[in-house]
Amino acid sequence: MATLEIKDLVVSVEDTLILQGVNLTVSGGETHAIMGPNGTGKSTLAQIVMGHPKFKVESGDILLDGESIIGLSVDERSRRGLFLAMQNPIEVPGVTNFDFVKTAVSARLKANERLRIGKFILKFEDAAKALNMGSGLSQRYLNQGFSGGEKKRNEILQMRLIQPKIAFLDEIDSGLDVDALKLVGDNVSKMKSPDLGLVLITHYERLLDYIIPDQVHIMIRGTIVKTGGRELIQKIDREGYDWLKAELGIDELEDPSKTRQYTLGSCATKKTIPGLR
Ligand SMILES: Nc1ncnc2c1ncn2[C@@H]1O[C@H](COP(=O)(O)OP(=O)(O)OP(=O)(O)O)[C@@H](O)[C@H]1O
Ligand SMILES: [Mg+2]
Repeated sequence: MATLEIKDLVVSVEDTLILQGVNLTVSGGETHAIMGPNGTGKSTLAQIVMGHPKFKVESGDILLDGESIIGLSVDERSRRGLFLAMQNPIEVPGVTNFDFVKTAVSARLKANERLRIGKFILKFEDAAKALNMGSGLSQRYLNQGFSGGEKKRNEILQMRLIQPKIAFLDEIDSGLDVDALKLVGDNVSKMKSPDLGLVLITHYERLLDYIIPDQVHIMIRGTIVKTGGRELIQKIDREGYDWLKAELGIDELEDPSKTRQYTLGSCATKKTIPGLR
């Protein structure tokens, strides 16, 4: 069972602080949901955990099973069991869907293991069928020309075959029709096990009707401001975030892009966010 610990994580992009001290621990068998208004840093968190080079860790740490992964490359993090289903999966012309997943799975094999191609093809076809992906998918270029919903289902297909230990699913529900949402929800729910820790980033209650979270975290302005259970989802679905902003004393009229003045050098920290902590 793997454990991911995010400790006091402060992250910048192009000299602007985005994450302002995030703490989160996710272990195998747990499902966490992260909700929060647009632009609060949810995708940044998922991407920095995966090692996106655009972001810089200013302070804090990310530990996988007690060991810092901050210095590790994206592929090494992936080999160790981290996975990100991207909010906007990219198209990769020239690389077939099948070759992409096969390469990713092969890269995880131990020195004495070999990919049994026949077995892998069957597994790929099974996964494609379970996600209603249609035939011919394997030989199409990765995400190229895929509809929004197909791209999202393709992320789950990869996850099924790669079998990560800790997975971030960033708005996996966006662009899915109601049937596809149920399909994705059922597929992910079936993958739940003590060997998988899940972090679901979403704006809507409906995904969390299918994949029930153990904990719900609300992120505002780059930090987790509240953690609770399912009752939080319902409250947000009904009332939005204004009650929470009021509770925390955040001035909602402030333009986040203007108040995100915590440029480096002015030594901004979470303390500079009005009302937080
Ligand atoms: N290169 C950049 N320079 C400056 N700001 C950036 C840069 N890249 C991202 N940001 C800002 O970082 C903030 C956090 O973005 P992020 O994508 O993490 O938000 P989010 O919570 O996932 O939002 P959404 O719910 O809309 O997906 C946004 O305000 C975004 O504009
Ligand atoms: Mg996002």
